Amino acid sequence: MSRHDEILAKPRPDPDDLAVLLGADAPAEQASLLAAAYAVKVRQVGPVVYFRGLFELSNRCTKDCLYCGIRRSNLNLERYTIPVDEILAGARWAYEQGYGSVVLQSGERNDPAFVDLITELVTKIRALSRDQLVITLSLGEQSEDTYRTWFRAGAERYLLRIETSDPDLYRRLHPADHSWERRRDCLRLLHHIGYQLGSGVMIGLPGQRVEQLANDILFFEQEQVVMIGMGPFIPHADTPLRDSIRNFAWKRHAQLALALRMIAVTRLYLQDVNIAAATALQTLAPDGREQGIAAGANVIMPNLTEPKYRSSYRLYDGKPCLDESATQCRGCLEARIASMGETIGFGQRGDSQRFLRRSFADAAGGVICQRS
Ligand code: 5AD
Ligand code: FES
Repeated sequence: MSRHDEILAKPRPDPDDLAVLLGADAPAEQASLLAAAYAVKVRQVGPVVYFRGLFELSNRCTKDCLYCGIRRSNLNLERYTIPVDEILAGARWAYEQGYGSVVLQSGERNDPAFVDLITELVTKIRALSRDQLVITLSLGEQSEDTYRTWFRAGAERYLLRIETSDPDLYRRLHPADHSWERRRDCLRLLHHIGYQLGSGVMIGLPGQRVEQLANDILFFEQEQVVMIGMGPFIPHADTPLRDSIRNFAWKRHAQLALALRMIAVTRLYLQDVNIAAATALQTLAPDGREQGIAAGANVIMPNLTEPKYRSSYRLYDGKPCLDESATQCRGCLEARIASMGETIGFGQRGDSQRFLRRSFADAAGGVICQRS
């Protein structure tokens, strides 16, 4: 038996196995890896895909990440913030459609007006859905006070990608005033406050090696990450990293294949986390997100941002569905998911099983301690 097949025959790969699986790009090995990961997905979280309605509420950003299309130095786009009423109308629509959760994402801002805006949105979305819609925030690095204010207002989940678990690679992708350590500390804070913690990385970054991707997966485990959102790096023409991958057009297939292996290996190693099939997968193939589900992901984030704002929220080039409305997006996605034999978890919260099991274990531990 080859090393690859031996690893796949184990109940769960060992830490040393991860890079081997990530590096195995021969078609037969890729196929057996993805099939093994899909089987684990079905066993651990069921043949169900959860939808999260995504609102890209503002592209104003105080940061300047070298890869990102909405970085503050990019003057080549109009900046917007969606009015509160429009977001609330979108959230009401999502609730009526049976979405379990909405995600509020934006560029990073820390000013009091922004903190208040989010607090207001969280409070009002909870009210209009009678506390049924789970709110996920994806709003970057904030102070402990701010994270606590939003948690008290009713936000339950937070996504903050570490981008890469390798501090040196992180430094090469960010200006000097950005800090890997600060971001890691934010993740710890979010977990400590009680959020369901989401993080993720970009896959196929310039100079990134499979050993670093393997460490990313170990990082998720160490830092108690229970929701994972990761996608392929795609160069954006208005950023300093525009030419960082030579002949990117030729490498799209390899980039997609690596991203799918990363999803699969993460599923095999972490087993019961939620994993999102990122929109960036769809940039590399029209059915990229479905391929993500077939590789072990169980969450899709349909974009519910009004089409008029979408072209200004281009984090990377070739972002799909720029002119489709939410209803159109829903129709095409649902049919494709159903054709894979999966159902969509409408009307369900779709909590990360890993989060629930850990909370349950903590609670049980608490009871035992009290009794003894
Ligand atoms: N390619 C792929 N993903 C990107 N992101 C930002 N820029 C790019 C890019 N060029 C991702 C980052 C960020 C998330 C919101 O979008 O990982 O955390
Ligand atoms: Fe906005 Fe990175 S450019 S957070």
